[in-house]
Amino acid sequence: MAKPRLWITRRLSDATIERAARDYDTVVNEADTPGSAAELIAASAEFDAIIPCHSEHFSAEVVAQFAPRLKIVANHSVGVDHCDLPALAARGITVTNTPDVLSDATAELAMLLMLGAARHAVAGDRIVRTGAWDFWSPSFMVGKQVTGARLGIVGMGRVGRAFAAKAKGFDMEIHYYNRSELPADQAFGAAYHSSVESLLGVADFLSLHCPATPETTDLMNRDRFALLPRGAVLVNAARGALVDEDALLEALGTGQLSAAGLDCFKVEPGGNPAFAAHDNIFMLPHIGSATTRTRDAMGFRALDNLDAYFAGQTPRDLL
Ligand code: DGY
Repeated sequence: MAKPRLWITRRLSDATIERAARDYDTVVNEADTPGSAAELIAASAEFDAIIPCHSEHFSAEVVAQFAPRLKIVANHSVGVDHCDLPALAARGITVTNTPDVLSDATAELAMLLMLGAARHAVAGDRIVRTGAWDFWSPSFMVGKQVTGARLGIVGMGRVGRAFAAKAKGFDMEIHYYNRSELPADQAFGAAYHSSVESLLGVADFLSLHCPATPETTDLMNRDRFALLPRGAVLVNAARGALVDEDALLEALGTGQLSAAGLDCFKVEPGGNPAFAAHDNIFMLPHIGSATTRTRDAMGFRALDNLDAYFAGQTPRDLL
């Protein structure tokens, strides 16, 4: 029997591509450019399966133009806000993602963002790197201490819990908001808040770990920034859609926020050019899951889902 035809939209890890090429009639977009709407539509006529990243947008408009050949979109991401799930379901297309395997790498990066934002990493690095470090004083670059501070986590899913586990190592007092309260053995001793508003009042550090949905768009807006303790630090390693970026700049301008650590932006790639003028925004280019081990694990998880689908089984990460 002919192998199913698979399109891999971006340059995934070598191990992933090797395994895919072994088991599928695989075409990889070696140019590693985001798949355009036209390319996705064309691919739906030529391939049985696609492994995309969050850089490919399966909007309702695009999906409506798909040919019937495409059977499964096996995402190489945990987030699926780039996919119109009802539109894909209406076309009978199976959709999967890659949960679990990237939780630690993303939580590690959130920890880096939190520490970097709290301790002036941007300005400190620059001053040493440029040879401009000609002064020292006990009042120089004094930051905000993480150890023992109160941490608010929005979204205690897999990444939120991995972040809480790491924050425990810093003796943080952890609070969380989640749609439902977790059983005690999964909550790392964190205190549950049944509303975001209640959580914000105790969040000297606030870290976002929820998916981007219509309900969570601009979750952090002007009104909510105002509820944080003065001088709080915001961390976002989830999705740019969660933060009203104008309100963020305003909160930094008034000192309501002392710093922010961001791996995600409303516009990606690129980010927000207005952020560049602010040394108290520590930024990275959406690389939360970008470690060698995690990239292999994400690729293999996407392939496991494909293997199950083509074996007539229910993929483990069926959405
Ligand atoms: C994810 O998996 O959602 C990461 O943000 C990378 O796409």
